[in-house]
Amino acid sequence: MTTIITVTNQKGGVGKTSTVLNLASQLAFSGRQVLIADFDPQGQCAIGLGLNPEPGAFNLMVNTGRDPREFIRATGRKGLSIIPGDRTTATAQIVINAENRPLDFIRGLLRPFREYQYIFIDTAPSVGGIQERAIFAADRVLIPSATEFFSTNGLGQVVNTLGQLAKQGWEGKLLGILPTFYDEVSSESKETMQELTRNFGEAVLPPVHRTTLLREAPAEGKVAHEMDPQHRATHEYHTLCQHVIKFS
Ligand SMILES: Nc1ncnc2c1ncn2[C@@H]1O[C@H](COP(=O)(O)OP(=O)(O)OP(=O)(O)O)[C@@H](O)[C@H]1O
Ligand SMILES: [Mg+2]
Repeated sequence: MTTIITVTNQKGGVGKTSTVLNLASQLAFSGRQVLIADFDPQGQCAIGLGLNPEPGAFNLMVNTGRDPREFIRATGRKGLSIIPGDRTTATAQIVINAENRPLDFIRGLLRPFREYQYIFIDTAPSVGGIQERAIFAADRVLIPSATEFFSTNGLGQVVNTLGQLAKQGWEGKLLGILPTFYDEVSSESKETMQELTRNFGEAVLPPVHRTTLLREAPAEGKVAHEMDPQHRATHEYHTLCQHVIKFS
């Protein structure tokens, strides 16, 4: 059984890619077969793992006649593979919109990859086109949200999108809202956390703190547990990992 987890938020810089990389690599490290599909034109999933961006996502979406396995790359980590993205993904987005591909388009593209226990989809900070279809592909949706003023604006809209898609036949569920960049000494963080809990209740997961380790890791092509297995960020993503295993 494959569980597809889409990590999304229309807001930029809230920790989507960091969450995909850390969760996927910790699940692989614990013995699961995991695939990351980078559907963001920024191509940062590859970079964060020390690889080069490539038009893997573009080829998967546009060159549908080719064997989709050609687009998978090894990451040098046991159990973890990636379909990298790069700026050509933006072209694929245009094609998808112009040709009005069906809502289950991305779900269909991922069907051949059944040997993976988890497929993570990273998305760009926007709505429509790829985003909608990436959510529709998901068994579980994870929404990182920075614990900063204004960052939670529009979160209701993302959650509403899930409701709209459910009316159109989406059968997945919300895995949770992940508060990121948490800083317990800042009143901004605390107030945002309270607001999140007020609005979304039990859907709110334990937060990931703001930390230099997570800021510096992508530049080294490493994830948190490879930088420092004892670091708080490693433990926080491990907790999230356990939640994913339990609820997927
Ligand atoms: N908890 C954290 N503490 C400190 N820095 C973080 C944390 N999480 C992520 N970062 C850093 O913040 C920046 C944005 O994070 P990331 O790329 O994961 O966000 P994103 O939502 O994927 O952004 P985009 O919308 O541009 O794709 C990156 O430089 C990342 O290394
Ligand atoms: Mg990103």
